[in-house]
Amino acid sequence: MASRKLLVTSALPNANGSIHLGHLMEHIQTDIWVRFQKLRGIQCIYVCADDAHGTATMLRAEELETTPEELIKKIREEHSSDFSKFYINHDNYYSTHSDENRDLVSLFYKRLSDKGQIGNKTVEQLYDPKAELFLADRYIVGTCPKCGAEDQYGDNCEVCGATYDATDLIEPRSKISGEVPTLRKSEHLFFKLSNFTAFLKEWTASGTLNTAVSNKLNEWLRQGLKDWDISRDGPYFGFEIPGHADKFFYVWLDAPIGYIAAFENHCSEKDIDYSDFWRLGSDSEVHHFIGKDIVNFHALFWPAILKCADFRTPSKIHVHGFLTVNGEKMSKSRGTYITAKEYLALLDPDLLRYYFASKLSDSVEDIDINLDDFTSKVNSDLVGKLVNIASRCSKFIAKEFDSRLSMIPENELHSSVPQTAERIETLYESTNYASAAREIMGLADKTNRFIDEKKPWILIKDAKKRSEVHEVCSIGLDMFKIMIVFLKPIIPALVGKAEQFLVTEPLSWQDISRPLHKKEIGTFEPLLTRVDSKTVKKLIQKPSLPLEKKSSEGDKDNHDISIDHFQKVDLRVAQILSAEEVEGADKLLKIHLTMGQESRTVFSGIRSAYKPKELEGKLVVLVANLAHRKMKFGISEGMILAASHENGEIYLIEPPKLSKPGMRIS
Ligand code: 2FM
Ligand code: ZN
Repeated sequence: MASRKLLVTSALPNANGSIHLGHLMEHIQTDIWVRFQKLRGIQCIYVCADDAHGTATMLRAEELETTPEELIKKIREEHSSDFSKFYINHDNYYSTHSDENRDLVSLFYKRLSDKGQIGNKTVEQLYDPKAELFLADRYIVGTCPKCGAEDQYGDNCEVCGATYDATDLIEPRSKISGEVPTLRKSEHLFFKLSNFTAFLKEWTASGTLNTAVSNKLNEWLRQGLKDWDISRDGPYFGFEIPGHADKFFYVWLDAPIGYIAAFENHCSEKDIDYSDFWRLGSDSEVHHFIGKDIVNFHALFWPAILKCADFRTPSKIHVHGFLTVNGEKMSKSRGTYITAKEYLALLDPDLLRYYFASKLSDSVEDIDINLDDFTSKVNSDLVGKLVNIASRCSKFIAKEFDSRLSMIPENELHSSVPQTAERIETLYESTNYASAAREIMGLADKTNRFIDEKKPWILIKDAKKRSEVHEVCSIGLDMFKIMIVFLKPIIPALVGKAEQFLVTEPLSWQDISRPLHKKEIGTFEPLLTRVDSKTVKKLIQKPSLPLEKKSSEGDKDNHDISIDHFQKVDLRVAQILSAEEVEGADKLLKIHLTMGQESRTVFSGIRSAYKPKELEGKLVVLVANLAHRKMKFGISEGMILAASHENGEIYLIEPPKLSKPGMRIS
């Protein structure tokens, strides 16, 4: 069989914000796959880049009073450094704002035009007369034409799920200037995507996608494809379209071409022919890792333009679900929007890598980081099972056998390794890391049981059993070596330390079947210590949440709220931990409460009705997503619900007795 040559990418992060856990999940997923391939000696090149273009970058640069070029330079450095601290080993981390990309985009455009697959159409779009630019859907808000929900974006309604054109919104306004947009005509260029329907029907069903994704795409394909608008009017930060003054390629046209450009840039330094990977009929493989929100761009537009421009199409698109934290969408106001830097300030990157791996499969189901589960999983698997083996065996080897292993005899543990290795290889290859991690931990359990049963700490007391102790602990450490090879794609730094302890060159997959006969080992230093759940919880306890601006609804005279506004109110069961009087405020109590995972402080005007002591332990209803309010005495992080009467009576509203802190009230 000819040896495989792989090119692998993760989706390109936008060059206008920080790297957060969502990016990290995808890049860790990709990096594990790449490291696994490299560990087996397969040629595998991993490239990525910042997605530099678009209105968002332009506006962010304006906001920061800098140029887009300066902004993307700074952000690229920051992104690249964040990724490397999580041991994400891109062979090249480039930018879509590059000469290679500009040339490739022109080449694609020329080929698409030459084949008659570019058309023009006049479109009428919303225009911000104050900011003097056409408004992309996300910069327009208004009332949903279907259900009447206010403050919905220009493309779809988050309340009823309707999709529509921005021009259908009732009372639209620009998010940039607040102005009412006007309608303006402009000529746009379209890629004739619908001509590729037959090709896409076949391509999406040819093993390039997992079945759930390919079924979803089939639904879209059956409904019929619209031609794709690939141009944007200036001002826009992007590549100008040759022959069309003040028109630019839409960022989503040049972004995936940026994969090729990043690879080309890498190849130019490594003396590899980039076109060998990208020509029609190439025998190399191209793998993209993406989230399910951008499937249409990668599995419809991208293969169609590649096909039309006579480039090869991707071998596989690996699609993952969204990331949630403690069961909820990441949110800045709840503190669950965790950046790479915030994580690094508290915890070891390998722990996150392991935790993600233990959750990832080939499905598009969403993935949740539950902080309690995180703590118990890394402590139990990595410290309690894996590192424990090295710790308990090395003690005897160092003290009794001069730090040298015995010959590794045939034994019941090693005999199952070849089959396990085969299963783990298949699981890694298919991105089923959670099952791979379970297999590896199964091996760790077996090894710990083996040591428990042999009881070297008892055998050592009998001089005739010394050689048995030597063998048992040598088998244990050789099994440890096998497990760290299996885990090397997931926790590279921890494995690096383990290699030092075993005094070995970097291990490869082949070392699984090379026993450490009579190997001298180093001194065991704790490779990892237990992580403290309080530290893990700090990930979402941000001391200084930004104070939200007063919402525009509050300014209106009309006090009615719609059902969707009401649904936005996050009511939670909370338990009062303590309460105290506030000096200088005779109506207020300062109350500390917990929602299980998270604690809050609120100031509440209930002092006339309750003594601080009698509140301790009481369950109350907390408006958990109320904008934090800066008061003279401190910041109030929510509001406790109470019934009050004009005559001064106040009664706290109590949730049912059996409810627990953190439960949502709906
Ligand atoms: O969704 C995003 O964040 C985009 N920047 C991803 C681009 S991926 C590729 F097509 F370039
Ligand atoms: Zn709606």
